[in-house]
Amino acid sequence: MEPTLEGTVEVHSYLGPADDRTLADDVLDGLTRPLKELAPKHLYDARGSELFDAICELPEYYQTRTERLILRTRAQDVVARTGAVELVELGSGSADKTRVLLDAMDDAQTLRRYVPVDVSETTVHAAAETLVARYPGMSVHGVVGDFERHLGHLPAALGPRLFVFLGGTIGNFPPGSRRRFLRGLRKVMGAGDHLLLGTDLVKDPRIIEAAYDDSAGVTAQFNLNVLHVLNRELGANFDVDGFEHVAFYDRKRQWIEMRLRATDQQHVRVEALGLDVEFAPREELRTEISAKFTPERLRNDLAAAGLELVELYSDPDELFAVSLSRLG
Ligand SMILES: C[S@@+](CC[C@H](N)C(=O)[O-])C[C@H]1O[C@@H](n2cnc3c(N)ncnc32)[C@H](O)[C@@H]1O
Repeated sequence: MEPTLEGTVEVHSYLGPADDRTLADDVLDGLTRPLKELAPKHLYDARGSELFDAICELPEYYQTRTERLILRTRAQDVVARTGAVELVELGSGSADKTRVLLDAMDDAQTLRRYVPVDVSETTVHAAAETLVARYPGMSVHGVVGDFERHLGHLPAALGPRLFVFLGGTIGNFPPGSRRRFLRGLRKVMGAGDHLLLGTDLVKDPRIIEAAYDDSAGVTAQFNLNVLHVLNRELGANFDVDGFEHVAFYDRKRQWIEMRLRATDQQHVRVEALGLDVEFAPREELRTEISAKFTPERLRNDLAAAGLELVELYSDPDELFAVSLSRLG
């Protein structure tokens, strides 16, 4: 008889001392480049994850509510088309919108397992506990890890899987890395699996810039929090009050950038790296890009990774898109 997994929760962490070095290596690379830069994944410690959840509730941050609306309208269709018994979510965070999909799978009586993957350990544990209580027939296999490096640790499939990557997080990769990431994902997908991908769409830059520079200053706190991460994890001595949040839309590249600008000359010591870094007055440190998509850009990226677009769902104002694709 097949072993039953119902109601079980297991969480495996693939982040360890070697990954502290990843932060250290990233910072060493990033702070010694001509344009100083940090990878956006370092924004998400426990505090950063809380602040991101607060951003999702802001009036200016249209992405979350629009993506949820699309999912509410289309979840049944997605479940019917994919026949998925398992939902594997990359960058799962609080997995709030995910419930719309899990509800639809539960209604269709196909739901067997949820596999959240996130670098933030606290959010994986919290989502696992909350969701297993909500869906008694489902098991959870959490993966605390980096979706660029740890997809080989996903559990063996129980049947057709729906891979889900929401929140427009795919936009955080620069264009080449985005395709490399999709290619890596395609390699772990099987013939019966699908990918449901949330992408923010190209639109009036004023709408985009407001979403990344809200009037309540929550995004500024989220951005500045990365300096606290470096102070805590690497013994750096950033004067956080000496930096300000900047967000601007690059029309040519069709992405928004978040940066931290030194208000005046700053000398920073990163003790764990033995590194001294100078910031000139008004010098900027890039902390995130978030690419915006046209249907063509999306189709080309998917095709370059060997994925075929099955359906492109959007909202009436065409602010956001959720695409369903499978192996091409
Ligand atoms: C923009 S948030 C989106 C959260 C959620 N999926 C949503 O749609 O609201 C990005 C999430 O991806 C996670 N994340 C960022 N980089 C990651 C990486 N390299 N590997 C795994 N998780 C990552 C963050 O911790 C965070 O929870």
